[in-house]
Amino acid sequence: MTELKKTAVIGQPIEHSLSPVIHNFWINKKNINAAPYEKIEVGPENFNSSLDKLIDSGYYGLNVTVPLKELAFLRCDELTESAKKTQSANTLIFKEGKIYGTNTDPVGFEFSLKKEIIKKNINKKKCLVLGAGGSARAVVFALDKMFADISIFNRTQEKAVKLCEDLGVAASSLDENEIKKQTNSFDLIVNTTSLGLFPSDNNNLIDFSLVQKKAFIYDLIYEPKESSFLKQAKANNLNFQNGLKMLIGQAAAAFYVWHNSDPSHNDELESLLEKL
Ligand code: ATR
Repeated sequence: MTELKKTAVIGQPIEHSLSPVIHNFWINKKNINAAPYEKIEVGPENFNSSLDKLIDSGYYGLNVTVPLKELAFLRCDELTESAKKTQSANTLIFKEGKIYGTNTDPVGFEFSLKKEIIKKNINKKKCLVLGAGGSARAVVFALDKMFADISIFNRTQEKAVKLCEDLGVAASSLDENEIKKQTNSFDLIVNTTSLGLFPSDNNNLIDFSLVQKKAFIYDLIYEPKESSFLKQAKANNLNFQNGLKMLIGQAAAAFYVWHNSDPSHNDELESLLEKL
């Protein structure tokens, strides 16, 4: 009898990860020959030893989440272009003694846009990315592939400049004055910062009263479902979405990599996740 494929997500904190719900939903729906997808708490200080143990105990693949994606990238023997460019890996496969890594966040972001209003045409559209951390790298990489006209605004401007250099993307890095002047010109505004994860956070990175009415507002945060950023979008009658579709999209790409099966039933899954 062939052994069931073992997969899991590792990170810290991991208790509230939705990845097991998503992957197990697809494993069951598609009758995949795999063990239930698990969540395993692993911190950065014991990342390397934990990874070795998981490989030894027969895991076939792992998803890697905060704060381990950059460490995972450093451990890989082979990397896809998205992992190389974003310098992070959220999906690993262990095969023939090697660690293969990819980053499915960019494709997850692209998938989430395709299902939304802006899918019509992002080509040459003016997109503003707020933040210059790991998530911003994934979003900028994806937007660049879609030929968007990208601007980045980050509290620490040097990090935005470095991000563009590393990705080889010709995006503009804006300062406080430029962001004020240009806010009314953007078609898509994506918050990738962690501002809004806590109820007390107030995301005032842009002045919503300046945003044009046809703009689409996107926050990668999905818990809370309506971050302070999205609440402001709603108050200003703008179209908006949270990061749930991107979460599903990045999971779908990882699922495909491991099981060679394209997961469907995303609408049903989405309503299930929304009820959690
Ligand atoms: P992730 O991997 O989720 O992107 P990260 O790499 O730690 O997380 O990046 C966090 C982002 O949120 C950064 O762009 C950070 O800005 P700095 O580069 O200036 O640190 C941004 N961020 C976090 N807290 C913020 C705050 N209070 N105000 C503005 N930006 C903030």
